[in-house]
Amino acid sequence: MEIVILPTPNEVAHTAADVVDELVRSRPSVLGLATGSTPLETYRELTHRHQNHALSFAGTHAFLLDEYVGLPKDHPQSYHSVIRKDFVDSVDFAGVQGLNGMATDSEREAQDYEDRIAAAGGIDLQILGLGSDAHVGFNEPMSSLASRTRIKTLTAQTRSDNSRFFNHPEEVPKHVLTQGLGTIREARHLLLLATGESKALAVAASVEGPVSALFPASVLQLHPHVTVILDEPAASRLAYTDYYAEIQQGKPDWQSY
Ligand code: GLP
Repeated sequence: MEIVILPTPNEVAHTAADVVDELVRSRPSVLGLATGSTPLETYRELTHRHQNHALSFAGTHAFLLDEYVGLPKDHPQSYHSVIRKDFVDSVDFAGVQGLNGMATDSEREAQDYEDRIAAAGGIDLQILGLGSDAHVGFNEPMSSLASRTRIKTLTAQTRSDNSRFFNHPEEVPKHVLTQGLGTIREARHLLLLATGESKALAVAASVEGPVSALFPASVLQLHPHVTVILDEPAASRLAYTDYYAEIQQGKPDWQSY
């Protein structure tokens, strides 16, 4: 894993936007988009570059990570609506696909989604946020590390974390459709973003802990190309921050480790 620690969420967003920008300008590509608060500044920065610096997504297709079950596409809190409002409607993607939270046959919907990702040639760059319990997408603790797209039940912790987006906590759906950890691991480059102290324990468990279904994001340690971009509070529980900084500066002092 490449670990990049920056002073502020704004610098996290700019650095993440640089990674997306470089890919999108270089060739037709497939981007995996995450919802949640963390990537919002990155999306704002990419929108700014689209409007002011000729960054076009016309050669880029996108797939969403997950969706609430039971919310119609046009519900303001469906991830379909959220990503449109926060990013997609402000730029010029060639196409954006998501899971249908109203599908009556969730198994078929999940398989169809896997097929559509494969038909697009797979995901080149997957943007990921991190749940406070180290979930990615909606792969809650104890998700199979090899899981594929499927229906999942949210934990009380995640429903509570996400209740800020709804009028009442009871309105947070109990079920979701999410790309599985095995699906996510097939993306060629994973870009995990985390900001704020509330993510510090999840970051430490995912980056430095043992690979375990207890901390789903820890499976990213097995991926050959992962970039983790953190602000200082999110990195505050990591043990090897000096080492990561030296690697970034290109001068690791191997003998100290
Ligand atoms: C949700 C989403 C995840 C996201 C996580 C963290 O559960 N399904 O994709 O990473 O929340 O969200 P936030 O960035 O708002 O902390």
